[in-house]
Amino acid sequence: MANASGFFAHPSISSMRSRTHLPIAVSGSGFCVSKRFSKRVLCSSLSSLDNNASPSPSQYRPPRLVPSGCKLIGSGSAVPSLLISNDDLAKIVDTNDEWIATRTGIRNRRVVSGKDSLVGLAVEAATKALEMAEVAPEDIDLVLMCTSTPDDLFGAAPQIQKALGCTKNPLAYDITAACSGFVLGLVSAACHIRGGGFKNVLVIGADSLSRFVDWTDRGTCILFGDAAGAVVVQACDIEDDGLYSFDVHSDGDGRRHLNASVKESQTDGALSSNGSALGDFPPKQSSYSCIQMNGQEVFRFAVKCVPQSLESALQKAGLPASSIDWLLLHQANQRILDSVATRLQFPPERVISNLANYGNTSAASIPLALDEAVRSGKVKPGHTIATSGFGAGLTWGSAIVRWR
Ligand code: ACO
Repeated sequence: MANASGFFAHPSISSMRSRTHLPIAVSGSGFCVSKRFSKRVLCSSLSSLDNNASPSPSQYRPPRLVPSGCKLIGSGSAVPSLLISNDDLAKIVDTNDEWIATRTGIRNRRVVSGKDSLVGLAVEAATKALEMAEVAPEDIDLVLMCTSTPDDLFGAAPQIQKALGCTKNPLAYDITAACSGFVLGLVSAACHIRGGGFKNVLVIGADSLSRFVDWTDRGTCILFGDAAGAVVVQACDIEDDGLYSFDVHSDGDGRRHLNASVKESQTDGALSSNGSALGDFPPKQSSYSCIQMNGQEVFRFAVKCVPQSLESALQKAGLPASSIDWLLLHQANQRILDSVATRLQFPPERVISNLANYGNTSAASIPLALDEAVRSGKVKPGHTIATSGFGAGLTWGSAIVRWR
């Protein structure tokens, strides 16, 4: 039975399995087709051709997809070398280490500098994920770059695809959903694998919010850092499915609490004062304002919506919170992590947290923390993880997944 998000919930996988026990083959085009099914389709197409020299388009039948599972098989991450401590920030705004650490849990963050680029960080993270997954770049058939701060307005994913050496020109595109981006990337990877026959999908979460921070605003500049994280999601037998459930939402009304908009003064000015016979045309070039945030409202939204979303995802997966090995939230504020964990009765030792070292790295925070936890041996193959992203949009979403 499909759940509200359109995915098959974990407990129903075995019943679905018995209904769809077909051998799966993945063709060069990336489509999963049953060998038995494609033979039948091919035969019927050929017999149509034999009997009719000019078959109508409706007589052709494309190969049918068969259900496929998907699972996480590799992770990687990368951070810029420049480390900015709370004491460093205290030199440029009226703040101090004690206030920042107590209110947020953050002590350091990494910030892009010099020749750093978001694409460079993403490529480093993706390369590590591919190595762990033992998947060659030419076997990737989709690159999803989850970011709100691409180096190019039109998206960064194709540059990453090229830099990785994906020689077969696989599809690559960006997903813009701020701090929820990585979870939505996982949802998209699952859709592409289950419904589109893709086999190896690279999901990258990377952001450089430091480029959109007002470094004179102590209310926001203390929070953010730059980073990239990546995972490889691979098609597998439905019995081995490891992306159990999702719960995803957005609320555009909440945008007023957190945004970085096109600067109004520039567009308005262009519309009224150019004196052109064409009136408002042409508009002036645009740029974005720095991050505007009502911290208390965002805090309230997070501690209300994230537990609800996780509870919903757990319910869809048919799993109690007590059966989950790790709670891995978007690393925004330690107080948000603590509040959500308390509400779901997660013991602190099962909550993954690394924001003391990196701050809020937006779409990168979940894959960065996951990669550290995997490489340190904390998260082991077979462990289940309840993860949740939340932030600008407003958007929020949760996933219940298994590591490998
Ligand atoms: N240093 C010292 N004092 C400060 C600082 C600072 N850096 N910042 C604010 N203050 C002061 C305020 O001026 C205020 O002083 P006052 O009482 O004299 O007026 C006092 O500290 C309390 O300020 P609050 O804003 O009420 O502090 P709060 O406890 O709410 O903490 C914070 C602020 C850390 C921003 C918190 O609200 C928060 O973490 N909110 C969530 C932000 C978040 O999670 N964003 C995630 C989404 S990001 C994305 O999607 C891109």
